[in-house]
Amino acid sequence: MSQAIHPAPKGFAGPNTITKSRYEDDYSESVEHPEAFWARMAQRIDWMRFPTKIKDVSFREEDFRIRWFEDGELNVSVNCIDRHLEKHGDKTALLFEADDPDAPDESRHVSYHALHGMVCRLANALRGLGVGKGDRVTLYLPMIPEAAVAMLACARIGAVHSVVFGGFSPDALAGRIADCGSKLVITADEALRGGRRVPLKANVDEALKRPGTNCVETVLVVKRTGAPVPMQMPRDRWYETVVAGQPETCEPERMNAEDPLFILYTSGSTGKPKGVLHTTGGYITYASLTHECVFDLREDDVYWCTADVGWVTGHSYVVYGPLANAATTLMFEGVPNYPDTGRFWQVCDKHKVTIFYTAPTAIRALMREGDAPVRKHSRHSLRLLGTVGEPINPEAWEWYYKVVGDSRCPIVDTWWQTETGGILIAPLPQATPQKPGSAGEPFYGVRPALVDAEGRLLDGPADGNLVLLDSWPGQMRTVFGDHQRFIDTYFKTYPGMYFTGDGCRRDEDGYYWITGRVDDVINVSGHRLGTAEVESALVAHPKVAEAAVVGCPHEIKGQGIYAFVTLNAGEPATDDLRAELVGWVRKEIGPIASPDHLQWAPGLPKTRSGKIMRRILRKIAEDAPDQLGDTSTLADPGVVESLVRERLNRT
Ligand code: WT7
Repeated sequence: MSQAIHPAPKGFAGPNTITKSRYEDDYSESVEHPEAFWARMAQRIDWMRFPTKIKDVSFREEDFRIRWFEDGELNVSVNCIDRHLEKHGDKTALLFEADDPDAPDESRHVSYHALHGMVCRLANALRGLGVGKGDRVTLYLPMIPEAAVAMLACARIGAVHSVVFGGFSPDALAGRIADCGSKLVITADEALRGGRRVPLKANVDEALKRPGTNCVETVLVVKRTGAPVPMQMPRDRWYETVVAGQPETCEPERMNAEDPLFILYTSGSTGKPKGVLHTTGGYITYASLTHECVFDLREDDVYWCTADVGWVTGHSYVVYGPLANAATTLMFEGVPNYPDTGRFWQVCDKHKVTIFYTAPTAIRALMREGDAPVRKHSRHSLRLLGTVGEPINPEAWEWYYKVVGDSRCPIVDTWWQTETGGILIAPLPQATPQKPGSAGEPFYGVRPALVDAEGRLLDGPADGNLVLLDSWPGQMRTVFGDHQRFIDTYFKTYPGMYFTGDGCRRDEDGYYWITGRVDDVINVSGHRLGTAEVESALVAHPKVAEAAVVGCPHEIKGQGIYAFVTLNAGEPATDDLRAELVGWVRKEIGPIASPDHLQWAPGLPKTRSGKIMRRILRKIAEDAPDQLGDTSTLADPGVVESLVRERLNRT
């Protein structure tokens, strides 16, 4: 473990940068007097009715409730746009950089004023198509300004958006549309990523043939590449045509603080993906406050978070947080290695990016290409760097700090989850000297704790499971359509506490070091996948009898996917079939779920009661056959010997 400590570089602090003493004072107030603290923080939002009730929370099952600002009324799109018009109408809100740096319209500046017009026109069009408060709208779009516009247009009329990442398959899309009963889908003809085309509209057509999707009445199609796509009348409408001629103003819906803002599907350790539901007042207060404090936001910043809007990072830190703060937020359609591996730094120079926020997996992939592609670009404008999504190894941290940031830029390693809505643990750049690999200290109002397997709280420096003892305004409120699942998933393991699913160490300075998931969730390139999902995709193949999936260490992705597959009796285990199964999972879920290793398993290690012993499979996948631990409960120890012999991930 690295022992280095990096205080903020000299000269970093600006007039409003949070100092250590201010962090300590505000943190104490936030946990000792949460009502007073959050009432003060709520003032950053423009309310139509300011809340008088601030917090009403119980994590106990008998009187379970999470309510923030519950009698407040507001509209999120007004907070992200209208209120900035007077002072910042001409300021760039969205700075779009296209996939292809040589395309004729490779970048676009959308001012707050222009954004207002775009959002109002679409909001009016949606209302005209019969979409109203509480209706669900699925967005399946590339990283183009229309994605942010669509989110905000939903927020304006009180419709609940569900963004589905453009890399998901038609089946995955269909499941998410059916689960929340979307009335309308907004997509594009095609997406462009790294020079390749993704047939979004064709995928929507496929998805809408699946059972459960006939809730969809209308599909709006944005023209991105101009490729010909079949339009099915009257269902399919061109976005362009539908918004043309709509008025440039639109009365915002008055929303209660606890009305839903969006649903975002995420994988868990069991079952199908959960529709994580976030509400209005708490979410926007929390997203904007964390964005301002953690990134030390300043008026002239050009802020770039590389996440796709299909993930929560894209919601809170590409769209909602930055726009609520009247920032300039860059939306990048492309990928880090196209047309070459200097693309990130070329974009930083081109747009004079000051804050850059990305995932460790991207840093590791670029680090492997050496320093030259970085040094070719000046990166002079950068002043703060951030990471999110998975633990960052100290070596990658140091490279990011020294090579990308020229040792001038603090790094904020931000720990949070889809469920948390915003950052919960991160070093504030000036207040918390950074330790490479540690997410540092809790944000305001956040009460992390470590527990052992029995749920006993651990004091001081310790290693355990990470829980949260109290609520924060950005917390998810329910699993869409299944409130009991919400309680069962997060509040039953350790009664009265929110269980994160992460393992964690706290050091002698009170810094938190996230060690990764302790449940059956794997984190592939910062994206979450349930092992159960990949398994059910595999067993859906007619030749597969049984499958078990575990994570394995992967140099670039953090974790890779390792599948053990038992074929039906008599089915020959060929390399062709292996390739077919990998392709099958890709098709069923999406490219991010492609197994890195697929090992034929004549049998799986099971207990006498038939439970698969994943702990053993994990060790085989880690290439640690000498650490299998206690195997005395195995029904058939011979199974393990053959799996060990044939293991694939040898170093
Ligand atoms: C899981 C949440 C938060 C937005 C992106 C991922 C892991 C996230 C860190 C970090 C170590 C991290 C955790 C967490 N994770 N950030 N800075 N250091 N681990 O959101 O898909 O909901 O995944 O990502 O394991 O539980 P998500």
